[in-house]
Order: sequence, then C-alpha cells, then structure tokens
Amino acid sequence: MSEPILEACGLVKTFIGGDGSEIRVLRGVDFRLDAGEAVAIMGASGAGKSTMLHLLGALDRPTAGAVLVRGRDLSGLDDEALAVVRNRHIGFVFQFHHLLREFSALENVMMPALLGGATFPEARRRAAALLDDVGLTPRLHHKPRQLSGGEQQRVAVARALVNEPSVLLADEPSGNLDSESSVRLHDLLFRLRQERGLSMVIVTHSAELAQRADRVLVLAGGGLQPAARG
Ligand SMILES: Nc1ncnc2c1ncn2[C@@H]1O[C@H](COP(=O)(O)OP(=O)(O)OP(=O)(O)O)[C@@H](O)[C@H]1O
Ligand SMILES: [Mg+2]
Repeated sequence: MSEPILEACGLVKTFIGGDGSEIRVLRGVDFRLDAGEAVAIMGASGAGKSTMLHLLGALDRPTAGAVLVRGRDLSGLDDEALAVVRNRHIGFVFQFHHLLREFSALENVMMPALLGGATFPEARRRAAALLDDVGLTPRLHHKPRQLSGGEQQRVAVARALVNEPSVLLADEPSGNLDSESSVRLHDLLFRLRQERGLSMVIVTHSAELAQRADRVLVLAGGGLQPAARG
C-alpha cells in the first residue's frame, strides 16, 4: 500500500467559548489521503469542517491527536517549522478568498513563492504562468476589488499552487459563486488535479462538486464517516 500524503490520527479540537465553557468540535477524527486522491468533505454549518481543514493544513494545532504530512508527524514542530511545511507541501484555498487587498493578482500569487525563497524574477515567472493557466492574463495587475468573485477564487487557486504543493486543501471554494461560475471553478480544480497529480481535500456544500470526488465523507457529531451512497 502506498504511503498516505496526508494523515490524521485521533484528531481532537476543543475551543473555549466566550463564557469559558468547552466546545468540543472534533472528537477523534481519523483520515488518510492517498497520492492523487480527491476527497470531498460535507457536513452541516458549524460541524467543524473548516476547523478540520485548518488542522490538516497546519494552520492550527489539535488539542489531541496528530497530523502527518508525507509520514512526518507535525506535533513536535515549532511555528517556524510548521510554516515551512505549509509553504512547501500544502496549498490552501480559503472559504473567503483572503487575497491581500492592496496587492495585484500577480503580486498576490507571487507572495508565497517569495516567502519560500524564490527570486523575484522566478516568482514573477511562476505566478504569471499560473495566472495564464487559470485564464487571468488580462487581469494580472487588477486588485482583488477590481475582480469578480469567480476571478478572485481563480487567483486564490493560482496562489495556492505557486509552490507546486502535493496537496490542495480547499474550503468551500465555490461557496460564494453563482452556479455557472461554480461549475467553471470545479472544472478548473479537476483539470489542475489531473495535470499536476494533485491530491485534494475539498470542503463543500455542493453536490455537483462532491460527486466529482473519489470519496465523499461527512463530518457530524465530531466524527468523520463515509457518506451514504445516493
Ligand atoms: N476560534 C474559535 N473559538 C471558539 N469557537 C470556535 C472557533 N473556531 C470555530 N469555533 C466553533 O467551532 C464550531 C465549528 O466551526 P467551523 O468553522 O469549523 O464549522 P464549519 O463546519 O466550517 O461551518 P460552515 O459550514 O458554516 O463553514 C462552530 O461551532 C464554531 O463556533
Ligand atoms: Mg467553514
């Protein structure tokens, strides 16, 4: 059996609410993502989908349990080492695009490459090539507010891929798009997956997107289960 690209063992996440009470969002989640696999995660609002994706993407730390990236346990890593793992191995598309408002599409996509140590010309070259790939060459110098919602998400996808990660984590990437723009974004994600051999975890409420995945899981009651086949 091949080694999983991404693995979660017994993930627990507890938040402390405003009144000091404990909110147990994840109660022991096990998960594995194999190379090239696309997994969709569904579940009700507030079920903990974003929380889980943030843990898988090393954006947050679990209360208990472990996340392994290419077999490496992230538990013992300090913040700086976690940032390096994120930058090299994981591309993240957020629920709301989180582009930097003051920077152009090109600069937004260049940023993770520069942070990862690429020279300015190299970062520019890679960012321009990716933006071309997602159909945004005519929009390189536009700021986020000058772009449509679908265009902003395509910039976010380009930014997530600029360091050639092996894993793409996407949190409701089409959640704020109309159905036509959503289908176009889904086409783009699955084309890029095919071309780049990406592994993907996509949180979505969209049945159209979920049915393209190899597996569909549902997060409920703090645990992850396979979706009933429809
Ligand atoms: N930093 C935090 N502090 C306290 N509670 C939090 C925090 N982050 C999330 N929560 C709580 O954890 C629960 C899960 O939140 P999460 O954002 O993971 O849900 P979700 O499944 O992504 O929902 P949605 O579909 O609406 O995006 C919610 O009840 C939320 O209020
Ligand atoms: Mg969410």
